[in-house]
Amino acid sequence: MKTSNCDALVFFGATGDLAYKKIFPSLQAMMRRGRLHVPVIGVARSKWSREQLLARARESVEKHGGLDPVAFEKLSGVLRYVGGDYQDAGTYHAIREALSGADRPAHYLAIPPALFGTVVEGLAKVGCTTGARVVVEKPFGSDLASAQALNQTLLKTFAEETIFRIDHYLGKRPVHNMVFCRLENELLEAFWNRTHVESVQITMAENFGVQGRGAFYDQVGTIRDVIQNHLFQVLTNLAMEPPVRADSESIRDEKVKVLKAIPPLEAKNLVRGQFRGYRAEKGVAPESQVETFAALRLEVNSRRWQGVPFFIRAGKSLPVTCTEFLVRLRRPPTVFPTCHPAGNYFRFRISPEVTGALGLTVNDPEEKMVGEQIELTASRHPSVQDVDAYERVLGDAMAGDTTVFARQDYVEEAWRIVDPVLKATTPVYEYEPATWGPREVDQKVVPPDGWQNPVVAG
Ligand code: BG6
Repeated sequence: MKTSNCDALVFFGATGDLAYKKIFPSLQAMMRRGRLHVPVIGVARSKWSREQLLARARESVEKHGGLDPVAFEKLSGVLRYVGGDYQDAGTYHAIREALSGADRPAHYLAIPPALFGTVVEGLAKVGCTTGARVVVEKPFGSDLASAQALNQTLLKTFAEETIFRIDHYLGKRPVHNMVFCRLENELLEAFWNRTHVESVQITMAENFGVQGRGAFYDQVGTIRDVIQNHLFQVLTNLAMEPPVRADSESIRDEKVKVLKAIPPLEAKNLVRGQFRGYRAEKGVAPESQVETFAALRLEVNSRRWQGVPFFIRAGKSLPVTCTEFLVRLRRPPTVFPTCHPAGNYFRFRISPEVTGALGLTVNDPEEKMVGEQIELTASRHPSVQDVDAYERVLGDAMAGDTTVFARQDYVEEAWRIVDPVLKATTPVYEYEPATWGPREVDQKVVPPDGWQNPVVAG
């Protein structure tokens, strides 16, 4: 759904980490592209001056992407600051004053979810929610019940079409491109179903640990941090039916249908791992049972996919940083007895570069009638001109385009799938940093032709 452009941006948590790493750089980039035309009001508890906020914003862009003096100067011109306690009515009166007549503000809550209720109520009391929209960050809840409670809190004040739940993966161009590529190529559609596909595997590997975010990560773990959200988005993009129209609701409807077709994850189809050394990270409990790696197997019981296993794995401290999926086709009947063809496959890499690849069997040049696996690949490497995922989601929220945001029913269905294993006690196996997770994966959760480990150049 597309609503009108907002006429002011208010972002809560202006002195925090997310603002520092993502929001200021995105605002500067929007300014550079001529896409930011409204006042921006940073809000936080600290009693800072506007100058202090500007200094923080400058440091932020210098550290993340570089200072663009012209764009930053323009950004400084529209940036204001309101400091005050979120419990204090005076804070909201000050926001109202800073909004000076804007009647379609976007309120971006870059703050812990426990504060959403307080802030939304505070804004409503001073009339700042009429005509407004709200933008919230992942993680949206920590299980189904908490996500439902959070939705209820927001829905008391905001209509669903004015709630923008960020999953920055949806702001990544390649994640959108995978749908485009799938649906605009008849070649792919011809085999994209249970008749031809043997299995699907999705891998999100990161070759770094928790990077000082131990206290956050130890409350969350891999399933909540990236699987329930980012990788389910990849899965639904991959498995959904073509939408009947290209509008946001038609697309989001199809994605929800995929999740509805997935039975809850069973403990026997999950392996959790923890890299050696994780428990020594700052903020991590010495006996932590939180996973830094998970591999799981799901079914999508739709007409298109019934019987095709979907495997997902994600982890920190793995050998490379890369996100990709692989759709493996069934093996053809053998004509040449010495050939032993493997199934063909389609591989699509989302990052670090975008690659589409077709895995084929050809005749080995040196041997007679022996099959050799080759890949036909096409790649595009990111450019500095590319719109960053945060810039895109922030811009779309301000423009009122809901397509790249998670809808309430989507978020709740996604939690329904992982909820049973989040509540169960399953073992967490140790793995060595820079390996592909615990060896139990290869015994318990493994695609028919094995995991294909991404190879990343350089
Ligand atoms: C975040 C997770 O949502 O996504 C991080 O909290 C993860 O743990 C990150 O590293 C990955 O996103 P990107 O865009 O860097 O691939």
